[in-house]
Amino acid sequence: MTFLDLAKSRFSLRKYKPDPVSEEDLNYVLEAGRLAPSAVNYQPWHFLVLREKESLEKIHQTYHREWFREAPVVIVLIGDHKQGWKRADGKDHTDIDVAIAADHITLAATDRGLGTCWICNFDKQKTIELFNLPAHLEPIVFLSLGYPDIQTDTERHKDKRKPFKVIVCWENI
Ligand SMILES: Cc1cc2nc3c(=O)[nH]c(=O)nc-3n(C[C@H](O)[C@H](O)[C@H](O)COP(=O)(O)O)c2cc1C
Repeated sequence: MTFLDLAKSRFSLRKYKPDPVSEEDLNYVLEAGRLAPSAVNYQPWHFLVLREKESLEKIHQTYHREWFREAPVVIVLIGDHKQGWKRADGKDHTDIDVAIAADHITLAATDRGLGTCWICNFDKQKTIELFNLPAHLEPIVFLSLGYPDIQTDTERHKDKRKPFKVIVCWENI
């Protein structure tokens, strides 16, 4: 499979089979996250893996969608703002680093026949409280993870993505 085939196969999965995710597949996607690049190689992240009933029940309180409750695993990507690189103008790169790790995980999951969905529209304060996160640890992305109960149309990007002429500029914007 080429990289573009893999990228076209990834989609936001909102229909999961109840089957548990194998240890091998879970370790594979976590390893892909671990390998992600980050500013100054600071790796300002934690991957909080939730798959026990009690932990999943907690996270379900922070994002209310029926399909979210079906996913057998949720990975909470937590940014550590104490560790993230700050540029001279003060810009904190933690969010960027965490997003790259998340993208590695979603693509690795696709590679293993797993599905994922990025979730940022969760109740951040509630997540912090439920998991007792200190001030420097921010939950940035949730990734639901499991085996797909539907397939995708890998050609859907033709009209679901902006065309080159809108997004690509040459030499000047
Ligand atoms: C940063 C980010 C945040 C997102 N947050 C949510 C979310 O909270 N809930 C949701 O259902 N989908 C969420 N999505 C999924 C997008 O809606 C989806 O990626 C986009 O519509 C493109 O569809 P595709 O992933 O199937 O290609 C998010 C995606 C990204 C990249």
